[in-house]
Amino acid sequence: MSIATATVTLNAAFFQEIKDDNQRLQELQRELREIFAADRPLGVSRFTLIDLLAELRDLLATHFALEEAFGYFDDPIDVAPHLCERAESLRAEHSELFVEVCHLADRAADLLVEHGTLAGYRTVARLFREFDQRFKKHEAEETALIMQAFNADIGAGD
Ligand SMILES: [Fe+2]
Repeated sequence: MSIATATVTLNAAFFQEIKDDNQRLQELQRELREIFAADRPLGVSRFTLIDLLAELRDLLATHFALEEAFGYFDDPIDVAPHLCERAESLRAEHSELFVEVCHLADRAADLLVEHGTLAGYRTVARLFREFDQRFKKHEAEETALIMQAFNADIGAGD
């Protein structure tokens, strides 16, 4: 079964969708980093914070699902087994990161509403910063792997 033309069109549409999602994701990451750089609330309501963290969780669900569906590095890695192992472990990180961001959103709802204390706020801020570090590292490693796979694919030497 060949639907070559339809596939190309479908890919372009998905790529645009990923791009759009990424823009909001990057914007939200910047916003949350700014907010949680401090250990005390800086004029942002706790209900807004809960909503922003729930949005982060939902955006990441889409982000990870789209990355896995497209398998950015599947084809180049087929010819480079050492890259395949790294790709497998990075892909496996998606479910770990998603569990972590779900935990973060749940804890925020709990600590900021039911126990609206400064200690609770600091815990949420710390959980966000820890998650953010791991997610940034994941994204950087994924980008590095894509570049490495691309270089291997076009036969670039040292
Ligand atoms: Fe990823």
